[in-house]
Amino acid sequence: MLYDLVRWEEKAIYQAAKRKGVDLKLINCRRLHFDLSKDHLEEIGDITLQRCVSYFRGLHLAGLLESKGIDVVNDFHSTLIAGNKLFTTLALIKAQLPVPRTMLSFTPEASLDALDELGYPAVLKPTVGSWGRLVSLLNDRDSAVSVFEHREQMFPLYRVYYLQEKVNRPPRDIRSFVIGDRVVAAIYRISQSSDFRTNTARGGKAENCTIDKELEDISLKAARAIGDGIYGVDIMESPEGLVVHEVNNTIEFKNTVPATGVDIQGLIIEHLLQRSK
Ligand SMILES: Nc1ncnc2c1ncn2[C@@H]1O[C@H](COP(=O)(O)OP(=O)(O)O)[C@@H](O)[C@H]1O
Ligand SMILES: [Mg+2]
Repeated sequence: MLYDLVRWEEKAIYQAAKRKGVDLKLINCRRLHFDLSKDHLEEIGDITLQRCVSYFRGLHLAGLLESKGIDVVNDFHSTLIAGNKLFTTLALIKAQLPVPRTMLSFTPEASLDALDELGYPAVLKPTVGSWGRLVSLLNDRDSAVSVFEHREQMFPLYRVYYLQEKVNRPPRDIRSFVIGDRVVAAIYRISQSSDFRTNTARGGKAENCTIDKELEDISLKAARAIGDGIYGVDIMESPEGLVVHEVNNTIEFKNTVPATGVDIQGLIIEHLLQRSK
């Protein structure tokens, strides 16, 4: 298991491996350097669970390890797609999954035109990011102009404008967990404040969500639109039915395990064992 920071999840995965008698080697990628000309990276092993908090670290690691013949969970391509909301939305649309209406533009002027079509309130998101960071509610044209002005002062990535209709949903959304071919758990994330973002990282409360056929179906299809492996699928209950707004690559589940009683860490180890056979 490659990591850059030990969270609750990395400890839980390590404990689960120990319980199952699996010799899981923990590798802190912050301490490593790699000679690209080497054919083999003996220190890594045949299969690696990539658990970096940093998307860019994880992505570059996956690219390197895969090119040296190591099976990386999740693989480079899936990491690339799931780590970027634009690429994810495009993959979901291609797979004919329902998504919130979304627009892409590259300047404040074009973004205001996009919002005229989309209507207010709308949501602006960075294409790369998590925990609800910089996911902004644009209530009207004035707030849009002001947020865009800030965005223009930022790194080029933030001058890519990913704009979405604000879905008229209850004050909660759904996170489902896909491991291999199974939806193993799902939670509602319920807003506890006036913040429209339901992320548990922002205080959203986790409650068990029953996995019915519809939720199972949409979660599996969304994961498959990205690739094989382990995913967290973000879903909203719109007036027209379920819509998928994100597929996450390196999942966090410290609130989900107590809410659902599902041993997600154990299932991750089982998945790796199955894959390594
Ligand atoms: N289009 C939308 N309409 C309403 N709420 C949204 C919309 N998009 C995101 N949200 C809220 O903001 C949260 C964070 O958005 P998300 O796209 O999942 O980004 P992140 O990667 O930061 O989690 C979501 O969990 C949801 O509560
Ligand atoms: Mg999310």
